[in-house]
Amino acid sequence: MKTTVIVGTQWGDEGKGCLCDYLAAQADIVVRYQGGNNAGHTVVVGDQQFKFHLIPSGILHPGKLCIMADGTVIDPLVLCREVDDLRARGVDTGGLRISAAAHVIMPYHIAQDILEEKRRGDRKIGTTSRGIGPAYADKSKRCGIRIGDLLRPDVLRARVRDVLDEKNVLFTQYYHAEALDADAIADQVLCAVPSFRDHIADTRAMVIDAVRRGRPILFEGAQATYLDLDYGTYPNVTSSHPVAGAACLGTGIGPRDIHDVIGVAKAYTTRVGSGPFPTELTDALGDRLRERGGEYGTTTGRPRRCGWLDGVMIACAATMNSLSALAVTKLDVLDDLDTVRICVGYRIDGEVMTTVPMDPSVLERVETIYEDLPGWRQDITGARSAADLPANARRYIDRISEIAGVPVRFVSVGPERSQLVVLGA
Ligand code: GDP
Ligand code: IMO
Ligand code: MG
Repeated sequence: MKTTVIVGTQWGDEGKGCLCDYLAAQADIVVRYQGGNNAGHTVVVGDQQFKFHLIPSGILHPGKLCIMADGTVIDPLVLCREVDDLRARGVDTGGLRISAAAHVIMPYHIAQDILEEKRRGDRKIGTTSRGIGPAYADKSKRCGIRIGDLLRPDVLRARVRDVLDEKNVLFTQYYHAEALDADAIADQVLCAVPSFRDHIADTRAMVIDAVRRGRPILFEGAQATYLDLDYGTYPNVTSSHPVAGAACLGTGIGPRDIHDVIGVAKAYTTRVGSGPFPTELTDALGDRLRERGGEYGTTTGRPRRCGWLDGVMIACAATMNSLSALAVTKLDVLDDLDTVRICVGYRIDGEVMTTVPMDPSVLERVETIYEDLPGWRQDITGARSAADLPANARRYIDRISEIAGVPVRFVSVGPERSQLVVLGA
């Protein structure tokens, strides 16, 4: 295995966690490079289900280093819970390493996220309310607190007081909410530190050393291309950069050290939260996809909006992430359909477009152009090789590959580890 990035090609929840769990067996190190506990990555092993928000999905493989790198944002209370839960379930968390340079999601970031969404009213983004946006905003404003600061309680207290001097004016006078107490907040956060203190490290040095030694590294993307702060449907995006290039920015390595980029595309499309969604199905078929696919948020439990596969989006994601291959997931969810559709273009003001427009208000107005393919109408959850897939299912996969311009290397037909079919492309 080479240095591989796993990246979402849609609006998240494509099944990145499952692929990461599968590929982690071949890696020495698994790295989360951006985002925080807005992510919800579900992994099923036998009759056990694991939901990861912060810890890389590779942790189920003993002996791997699992890194939360510099570009991530970490809520210490959530991390403490996640580590404790895994230990209680008998998972060895000895390989976990947390970057001292990662930024901390503080309780005031969560409060700010919730108050800001309330203020937006009808224009709300539908965030996960985990404080992600405010934490990244403070990082950019250079008043963020980093994981390493948690090891120096006096410095932390002084920083929190300084930050709250400004934020409390915002909370009380602008949002008309309660002021927050700096010492109480520092105490709350410091309580969580013992459960991960020994795992705090200079992860940049670790990743660079692994690259120099040519060790196989797996970078686990969270969120997805169209939630990217720059390349997504702004402002309905997250506040980090989920695209593959961010695996460099978030860890400290250079672009030529990434050898393989696998884009994960669900066989249909889902989105949680607000924003344009050209292929959305707001009818009974959308409900059917939601129920068959179990499309309810891993982090917030919200019903996910569902629709047909958008080939235009996948093709642009292939370019933006320089994909070497695709993993098409949840193909089994389409098992009972007579016809499956792929959006192959958009019509806007009489013109046909085959790229995603930069302006989301244009994307909001596009008319979709579909190509219809015959369904396979049979249960494929038992497929274990390409030969086990019905001809029409293979045809659908081949067409996705043609549209995206990259080979499909994996197809998943169920959530369990054994249900990932390797096509070998
Ligand atoms: P992620 O955020 O990209 O890791 O994806 P999520 O874990 O949020 O959502 C994917 C969901 O689909 C999880 O509940 C998985 O257990 C489930 N899943 C993954 N692959 C398949 C598949 O091939 N078929 C079915 N039916 N479910 C799957
Ligand atoms: P994984 O890694 C799906 C969405 C939220 C909201 C927007 C901004 O599981 O694929 P934020 O809390 O980040 O400020 O919310 O981004 N969002 C996700 N949607 N999967 C995710 O992660 C998401 N992380 C954030 O619903 O629309
Ligand atoms: Mg998810």
